[in-house]
Amino acid sequence: MMFSPLAALAVFVACASAITITSPGASQSWTNNGEQTITWTAVQTDPQNFAITLTNTNTTLIPTVDNNQVLKALVDTSTGTTTVSPPASGWPSPGGSYRVNFCNSTEDLSTIYAQSDPFNIVAAAVQSDSSTATSQTLASTPTTPATTPTGSATVTDAGDASGSGSSSAPASTGSSAAPPALGIHTGFVSVLVVLGAFLA
Ligand SMILES: *[C@@H]1O[C@H](CO)[C@@H](O)[C@H](O)[C@H]1NC(C)=O
Ligand SMILES: *[C@@H]1O[C@H](CO)[C@@H](O)[C@H](O)[C@H]1NC(C)=O
Repeated sequence: MMFSPLAALAVFVACASAITITSPGASQSWTNNGEQTITWTAVQTDPQNFAITLTNTNTTLIPTVDNNQVLKALVDTSTGTTTVSPPASGWPSPGGSYRVNFCNSTEDLSTIYAQSDPFNIVAAAVQSDSSTATSQTLASTPTTPATTPTGSATVTDAGDASGSGSSSAPASTGSSAAPPALGIHTGFVSVLVVLGAFLA
């Protein structure tokens, strides 16, 4: 008789913790560039949806009030996988001991259904990440700087990667745009010189 409440609680906990986060984890890191993938397994009795947060016991790495950075709300449990975009402030500093939590909702982050193993967020290589890191989302990006001299995509990438590169990116695209204009101008002057020599 005394044991039945405890038994009921044990069953509830077992059901509530049936969601298992399979990635990220000890051997599946994230990079600090672009969308990242989360996968999990679940059973019928699990909640139908949840909210995803990023957390770290080192509070300097997740500097929000409750050490929880909300990544996504109302994720459908049955899909088993989702991608999360960087927070508005970008991914936190590369480092270890990050964890992903599946919570009841953005209003109830303290009810945690599942927690990932600790994983690393590693710095994406600034030059090669566009071709290797997230091939689906960045597939169109490499062609953009090549064809359009405005460089808006380049500026965004530089800001994500370094946070301080936004002022250097326009300068480099500006200087690459300058030589053709200079070349046209020089050509025009030399035509005038030839024309002047011909008239004299
Ligand atoms: C927390 O992270 C910061 C930045 O990476 C690091 O300097 C500091 O040593 C870390 N603190 C602990 C307790 O690991
Ligand atoms: C989770 O949130 C829902 C409302 O969205 C609430 O009805 C439910 O009781 C919560 N579950 C837990 C275990 O707190």
